[in-house]
Amino acid sequence: MLVSPSILNADYMNLEKDIKRIDKAGADRLHIDIMDGRFVRNITWGPPTVSAIKKITNLPIDIHLMVSEPERFIDDYIELDVNCVLIHPESTYFLRKVLLEIKDKGILAGVALKLETSVDQIMYALELVDEVLLLSSDEGFGGGEFQSLVLKKVSYLKRLRRSENLNFKNQIDGGINLKTAERAKKMGIDIIVSGSYVIKNEVAIKKLKQL
Ligand code: DX5
Ligand code: ZN
Repeated sequence: MLVSPSILNADYMNLEKDIKRIDKAGADRLHIDIMDGRFVRNITWGPPTVSAIKKITNLPIDIHLMVSEPERFIDDYIELDVNCVLIHPESTYFLRKVLLEIKDKGILAGVALKLETSVDQIMYALELVDEVLLLSSDEGFGGGEFQSLVLKKVSYLKRLRRSENLNFKNQIDGGINLKTAERAKKMGIDIIVSGSYVIKNEVAIKKLKQL
């Protein structure tokens, strides 16, 4: 199982320490939630912070853009040579265009779906997508409870991937601990995003990796 720790619930006064611990524990990627206080009711970071983080780790960085009109910021993250940029379909009028822009620059293009957003919203962009991230708790904050209703979407996507001959990867994000990760894995999730459960716990990262 690939594990992508989220730093949303890190100690912001000691972000470097927390990231280095994640890195040492064998994480596969680093998940950074960018929030603008508009698309979700929380505000986090922007390109300058991501640029600073890039200087202290070689982990591939996934940018989960929870902002309105993400097209305004895409170039900034592409320039930082991140691994993947994930956008929400409701946040833009130009879903396909933005995904193509990301792909054109050789960066993985992803879509993220809130709990109440159906897979149908991305149906006509799915062939452009490298990764689909399914939120499994309420958006905007860490520490929320895992909502089993997401599992329906996981199996639907798995079926679609097979029937349409697509090869995007499935990520899950929200309320992930060892138990919920096991359930997600059984349903066909490829990449686990986990925040509060792993941020101070390298053993948890190792256990998730062994799934
Ligand atoms: C929240 C973010 C998540 C968050 C998950 O909407 O997308 O990445 O950090 O945190 P946990 O694992 O604590 O639910
Ligand atoms: Zn996230």
